[in-house]
Amino acid sequence: MKIVIIGGTGLIGSKLVSKLREHGHEAVAASPDTGVNTLTGDGLAEALRDAAAVVDVSNSPSFEEKAVMDFFTTSTRNLLKFAAAAGVTHYVALSVVGTERIPDSPYLRAKTAQEALIKDAGVPYTIVHATQFFEFVKRIADEATTGTTVRLPPVLIQPMAADDVAKAVGRIAVGPPLNGMVEVAGPQQFRFDELIRQGLSARHDPRDVVADQHARYFGAELTERSLIPADDARLGEVRFQDWLSLPIPQSAGGAQQR
Ligand SMILES: NC(=O)c1ccc[n+]([C@@H]2O[C@H](COP(=O)([O-])OP(=O)(O)OC[C@H]3O[C@@H](n4cnc5c(N)ncnc54)[C@H](OP(=O)(O)O)[C@@H]3O)[C@@H](O)[C@H]2O)c1
Repeated sequence: MKIVIIGGTGLIGSKLVSKLREHGHEAVAASPDTGVNTLTGDGLAEALRDAAAVVDVSNSPSFEEKAVMDFFTTSTRNLLKFAAAAGVTHYVALSVVGTERIPDSPYLRAKTAQEALIKDAGVPYTIVHATQFFEFVKRIADEATTGTTVRLPPVLIQPMAADDVAKAVGRIAVGPPLNGMVEVAGPQQFRFDELIRQGLSARHDPRDVVADQHARYFGAELTERSLIPADDARLGEVRFQDWLSLPIPQSAGGAQQR
Protein backbone atom coordinates (compact mmCIF):
# COMPACT_ATOMS: atom_id res chain seq x y z
CA MET A 1 0.00 0.00 0.00
CA LYS A 2 1.48 3.40 -0.95
CA ILE A 3 1.21 5.82 1.94
CA VAL A 4 2.57 9.37 1.73
CA ILE A 5 3.76 10.89 5.00
CA ILE A 6 3.63 14.68 4.92
CA GLY A 7 6.23 15.78 7.48
CA GLY A 8 7.89 12.40 7.02
CA THR A 9 11.27 13.80 8.09
CA GLY A 10 9.97 15.09 11.46
CA LEU A 11 9.83 13.51 14.91
CA ILE A 12 6.66 11.46 14.36
CA GLY A 13 6.97 11.29 10.57
CA SER A 14 10.39 9.63 10.50
CA LYS A 15 9.27 6.99 13.01
CA LEU A 16 6.07 6.41 11.07
CA VAL A 17 7.90 5.95 7.76
CA SER A 18 10.19 3.31 9.35
CA LYS A 19 7.32 1.43 10.99
CA LEU A 20 5.22 1.33 7.81
CA ARG A 21 8.21 0.10 5.78
CA GLU A 22 8.88 -2.62 8.40
CA HIS A 23 5.32 -3.79 7.72
CA GLY A 24 5.94 -3.95 3.98
CA HIS A 25 4.20 -0.74 2.92
CA GLU A 26 5.54 1.75 0.41
CA ALA A 27 5.93 4.71 2.75
CA VAL A 28 7.02 7.95 1.08
CA ALA A 29 8.48 10.71 3.27
CA ALA A 30 7.33 14.08 1.95
CA SER A 31 8.66 17.41 3.22
CA PRO A 32 10.56 20.42 1.86
CA ASP A 33 13.72 18.34 2.35
CA THR A 34 12.41 15.77 -0.14
CA GLY A 35 11.05 18.40 -2.58
CA VAL A 36 7.45 18.46 -1.33
CA ASN A 37 6.05 21.70 0.07
CA THR A 38 2.41 21.83 1.18
CA LEU A 39 2.46 25.64 1.40
CA THR A 40 3.27 26.07 -2.30
CA GLY A 41 1.97 22.75 -3.63
CA ASP A 42 5.42 21.93 -5.05
CA GLY A 43 5.94 18.20 -5.55
CA LEU A 44 2.51 17.21 -4.18
CA ALA A 45 0.96 15.87 -7.40
CA GLU A 46 3.94 13.63 -8.04
CA ALA A 47 4.26 12.42 -4.45
CA LEU A 48 0.56 11.52 -4.22
CA ARG A 49 0.32 9.67 -7.54
CA ASP A 50 -1.16 6.17 -6.88
CA ALA A 51 -1.20 6.75 -3.11
CA ALA A 52 -3.94 4.97 -1.17
CA ALA A 53 -3.47 7.08 1.94
CA VAL A 54 -1.86 10.34 2.99
CA VAL A 55 -0.87 11.06 6.58
CA ASP A 56 -0.27 14.67 7.62
CA VAL A 57 2.16 14.85 10.54
CA SER A 58 3.71 18.13 9.45
CA ASN A 59 4.09 21.02 11.85
CA SER A 60 4.38 24.77 11.60
CA PRO A 61 7.94 26.10 11.94
CA SER A 62 6.48 29.00 13.96
CA PHE A 63 3.84 28.86 16.74
CA GLU A 64 3.19 32.64 16.45
CA GLU A 65 -0.57 33.26 16.12
CA LYS A 66 -0.81 34.38 12.49
CA ALA A 67 2.04 32.19 11.24
CA VAL A 68 0.61 29.00 12.71
CA MET A 69 -2.92 29.72 11.43
CA ASP A 70 -1.56 30.49 7.94
CA PHE A 71 0.53 27.32 7.99
CA PHE A 72 -2.22 24.85 8.92
CA THR A 73 -4.95 26.42 6.77
CA THR A 74 -2.83 26.90 3.64
CA SER A 75 -1.08 23.53 3.84
CA THR A 76 -4.31 21.65 4.58
CA ARG A 77 -6.25 23.32 1.75
CA ASN A 78 -3.47 22.42 -0.70
CA LEU A 79 -3.08 18.90 0.58
CA LEU A 80 -6.82 18.19 0.46
CA LYS A 81 -7.05 19.54 -3.09
CA PHE A 82 -4.16 17.38 -4.33
CA ALA A 83 -5.35 14.33 -2.34
CA ALA A 84 -8.82 14.56 -3.90
CA ALA A 85 -7.32 14.94 -7.39
CA ALA A 86 -5.10 11.89 -6.83
CA GLY A 87 -8.04 9.77 -5.65
CA VAL A 88 -6.62 9.21 -2.16
CA THR A 89 -9.09 7.10 -0.17
CA HIS A 90 -7.83 7.80 3.37
CA TYR A 91 -6.64 11.18 4.67
CA VAL A 92 -5.15 10.94 8.16
CA ALA A 93 -4.10 13.97 10.21
CA LEU A 94 -2.46 14.18 13.62
CA SER A 95 -3.89 16.71 16.05
CA VAL A 96 -4.00 17.24 19.79
CA VAL A 97 -6.29 15.89 22.54
CA GLY A 98 -8.44 18.72 23.90
CA THR A 99 -8.00 20.97 20.83
CA GLU A 100 -11.70 21.91 20.79
CA ARG A 101 -11.70 22.64 24.56
CA ILE A 102 -8.78 25.11 24.53
CA PRO A 103 -9.71 27.94 22.14
CA ASP A 104 -7.46 30.45 23.98
CA SER A 105 -4.40 28.76 22.50
CA PRO A 106 -3.47 30.22 19.09
CA TYR A 107 -1.77 26.95 18.19
CA LEU A 108 -4.84 24.87 19.00
CA ARG A 109 -7.13 27.34 17.21
CA ALA A 110 -5.04 26.65 14.11
CA LYS A 111 -5.38 22.88 14.68
CA THR A 112 -9.16 23.32 15.00
CA ALA A 113 -9.19 25.20 11.67
CA GLN A 114 -7.15 22.38 10.12
CA GLU A 115 -9.65 19.79 11.40
CA ALA A 116 -12.65 21.78 10.12
CA LEU A 117 -11.18 21.90 6.62
CA ILE A 118 -10.64 18.13 6.65
CA LYS A 119 -14.18 17.40 7.89
CA ASP A 120 -15.67 19.58 5.14
CA ALA A 121 -13.55 18.39 2.22
CA GLY A 122 -15.34 15.18 1.28
CA VAL A 123 -12.14 13.07 1.28
CA PRO A 124 -12.55 10.02 3.60
CA TYR A 125 -10.53 10.84 6.72
CA THR A 126 -9.47 9.97 10.24
CA ILE A 127 -8.28 12.64 12.67
CA VAL A 128 -5.99 11.31 15.39
CA HIS A 129 -5.86 13.29 18.63
CA ALA A 130 -2.70 12.54 20.61
CA THR A 131 -1.70 13.81 24.04
CA GLN A 132 1.58 15.69 24.63
CA PHE A 133 4.70 13.79 23.55
CA PHE A 134 7.38 12.98 26.14
CA GLU A 135 9.78 14.57 23.62
CA PHE A 136 7.86 17.86 24.05
CA VAL A 137 8.61 18.24 27.79
CA LYS A 138 11.61 20.53 27.30
CA ARG A 139 9.79 22.75 24.80
CA ILE A 140 6.85 23.06 27.22
CA ALA A 141 9.25 24.01 30.01
CA ASP A 142 11.05 26.55 27.82
CA GLU A 143 7.76 28.21 26.88
CA ALA A 144 6.72 28.41 30.56
CA THR A 145 10.04 29.72 31.89
CA THR A 146 10.71 33.17 33.31
CA GLY A 147 14.26 33.56 34.59
CA THR A 148 15.00 30.18 36.16
CA THR A 149 11.40 29.37 37.14
CA VAL A 150 8.94 27.26 35.17
CA ARG A 151 5.29 27.96 36.03
CA LEU A 152 2.63 25.44 35.09
CA PRO A 153 -0.88 24.65 36.31
CA PRO A 154 -1.12 21.44 38.38
CA VAL A 155 -3.78 19.96 36.08
CA LEU A 156 -3.88 16.36 34.85
CA ILE A 157 -1.87 15.30 31.80
CA GLN A 158 -1.47 11.86 30.17
CA PRO A 159 1.58 12.19 27.89
CA MET A 160 2.96 9.58 25.52
CA ALA A 161 6.15 8.54 23.74
CA ALA A 162 6.56 9.58 20.10
CA ASP A 163 7.15 5.89 19.34
CA ASP A 164 3.67 5.04 20.65
CA VAL A 165 2.18 7.92 18.65
CA ALA A 166 3.79 6.64 15.44
CA LYS A 167 2.58 3.08 16.13
CA ALA A 168 -0.98 4.24 16.68
CA VAL A 169 -1.03 6.52 13.63
CA GLY A 170 0.43 3.72 11.49
CA ARG A 171 -2.27 1.28 12.52
CA ILE A 172 -4.95 3.84 11.74
CA ALA A 173 -3.40 4.78 8.36
CA VAL A 174 -3.53 1.19 7.06
CA GLY A 175 -7.12 0.72 8.30
CA PRO A 176 -10.39 2.09 6.92
CA PRO A 177 -11.24 5.79 7.24
CA LEU A 178 -13.47 6.45 10.27
CA ASN A 179 -14.70 9.88 9.11
CA GLY A 180 -14.27 10.86 12.72
CA MET A 181 -11.72 11.32 15.47
CA VAL A 182 -9.72 8.80 17.52
CA GLU A 183 -7.85 9.64 20.73
CA VAL A 184 -4.49 8.16 21.69
CA ALA A 185 -2.69 8.72 24.99
CA GLY A 186 0.00 7.44 27.33
CA PRO A 187 -0.45 4.75 29.98
CA GLN A 188 -0.16 7.07 33.04
CA GLN A 189 -1.58 10.33 34.31
CA PHE A 190 0.54 12.99 36.02
CA ARG A 191 0.09 16.45 37.46
CA PHE A 192 1.49 18.78 34.81
CA ASP A 193 4.04 20.47 37.11
CA GLU A 194 5.22 17.09 38.43
CA LEU A 195 5.74 15.68 34.92
CA ILE A 196 7.87 18.65 33.89
CA ARG A 197 9.78 18.57 37.20
CA GLN A 198 10.62 14.89 36.68
CA GLY A 199 11.58 15.45 33.04
CA LEU A 200 13.90 18.39 33.79
CA SER A 201 15.45 16.74 36.83
CA ALA A 202 16.30 13.58 34.84
CA ARG A 203 18.21 15.82 32.40
CA HIS A 204 19.98 17.70 35.25
CA ASP A 205 18.16 20.87 34.24
CA PRO A 206 18.38 23.15 37.32
CA ARG A 207 15.18 25.15 36.72
CA ASP A 208 12.56 25.29 39.51
CA VAL A 209 9.09 24.11 38.54
CA VAL A 210 6.29 25.88 40.40
CA ALA A 211 2.60 24.88 40.40
CA ASP A 212 0.53 27.94 39.52
CA GLN A 213 -3.19 27.46 38.86
CA HIS A 214 -3.30 30.45 36.50
CA ALA A 215 -0.08 29.83 34.60
CA ARG A 216 -0.79 29.60 30.88
CA TYR A 217 0.07 26.74 28.56
CA PHE A 218 0.96 28.21 25.16
CA GLY A 219 -1.36 31.13 25.90
CA ALA A 220 -4.28 29.19 27.40
CA GLU A 221 -5.56 28.66 30.93
CA LEU A 222 -6.31 24.98 31.52
CA THR A 223 -8.89 23.24 33.67
CA GLU A 224 -8.35 19.96 35.56
CA ARG A 225 -9.15 17.72 32.56
CA SER A 226 -8.50 19.96 29.51
CA LEU A 227 -5.59 17.75 28.38
CA ILE A 228 -7.13 14.37 29.28
CA PRO A 229 -8.73 12.07 26.67
CA ALA A 230 -12.04 10.25 27.04
CA ASP A 231 -12.18 6.75 28.58
CA ASP A 232 -12.10 5.00 25.20
CA ALA A 233 -8.70 6.44 24.18
CA ARG A 234 -6.21 3.92 22.77
CA LEU A 235 -3.28 3.77 25.20
CA GLY A 236 0.43 3.43 24.41
CA GLU A 237 2.79 1.21 26.37
CA VAL A 238 5.89 3.27 27.10
CA ARG A 239 6.06 4.64 30.64
CA PHE A 240 7.70 8.00 31.29
CA GLN A 241 10.35 6.70 33.73
CA ASP A 242 11.38 3.97 31.27
CA TRP A 243 11.59 6.50 28.45
CA LEU A 244 13.71 8.84 30.61
CA SER A 245 16.19 6.04 31.20
CA LEU A 246 16.78 5.48 27.47
CA PRO A 247 19.92 6.99 25.92
CA ILE A 248 19.35 10.42 24.33
CA PRO A 249 19.37 10.14 20.51
CA GLN A 250 22.45 11.76 18.96
CA SER A 251 20.82 13.08 15.80
CA ALA A 252 17.76 15.28 15.53
CA GLY A 253 14.62 13.79 14.01
CA GLY A 254 12.60 16.97 14.27
CA ALA A 255 12.38 20.08 16.36
CA GLN A 256 11.68 18.54 19.75
CA GLN A 257 14.52 16.92 21.59
CA ARG A 258 14.38 14.83 24.68
N1 LIG B 1 4.26 17.99 20.32
C1 LIG B 1 3.23 17.37 20.88
O1 LIG B 1 3.23 17.09 22.09
C2 LIG B 1 2.03 17.02 20.01
C3 LIG B 1 0.93 16.39 20.61
C4 LIG B 1 -0.13 15.98 19.80
C5 LIG B 1 -0.10 16.22 18.42
N2 LIG B 1 0.98 16.87 17.88
C6 LIG B 1 1.00 17.08 16.41
O2 LIG B 1 1.97 16.21 15.85
C7 LIG B 1 2.32 16.71 14.56
C8 LIG B 1 3.77 16.37 14.27
O3 LIG B 1 4.62 16.96 15.21
P1 LIG B 1 6.20 16.66 15.20
O4 LIG B 1 6.70 17.06 16.54
O5 LIG B 1 6.48 15.29 14.69
O6 LIG B 1 6.70 17.74 14.12
P2 LIG B 1 8.21 18.09 13.72
O7 LIG B 1 9.18 17.12 14.29
O8 LIG B 1 8.41 19.55 14.00
O9 LIG B 1 8.21 17.87 12.14
C9 LIG B 1 7.50 18.72 11.30
C10 LIG B 1 7.57 18.17 9.90
O10 LIG B 1 6.78 19.03 9.07
C11 LIG B 1 7.52 19.27 7.89
N3 LIG B 1 7.12 20.51 7.25
C12 LIG B 1 7.29 21.79 7.70
N4 LIG B 1 6.85 22.66 6.77
C13 LIG B 1 6.37 21.92 5.73
C14 LIG B 1 5.82 22.23 4.47
N5 LIG B 1 5.63 23.51 4.09
N6 LIG B 1 5.47 21.22 3.64
C15 LIG B 1 5.66 19.93 4.00
N7 LIG B 1 6.18 19.57 5.18
C16 LIG B 1 6.55 20.56 6.03
C17 LIG B 1 8.97 19.31 8.36
O11 LIG B 1 9.83 19.16 7.25
P3 LIG B 1 11.32 19.80 7.26
O12 LIG B 1 12.04 19.15 8.37
O13 LIG B 1 11.85 19.45 5.90
O14 LIG B 1 11.13 21.27 7.48
C18 LIG B 1 8.98 18.11 9.29
O15 LIG B 1 9.13 16.93 8.54
C19 LIG B 1 1.94 18.19 14.56
O16 LIG B 1 0.91 18.41 13.62
C20 LIG B 1 1.42 18.46 15.96
O17 LIG B 1 0.30 19.33 15.97
C21 LIG B 1 2.03 17.26 18.63
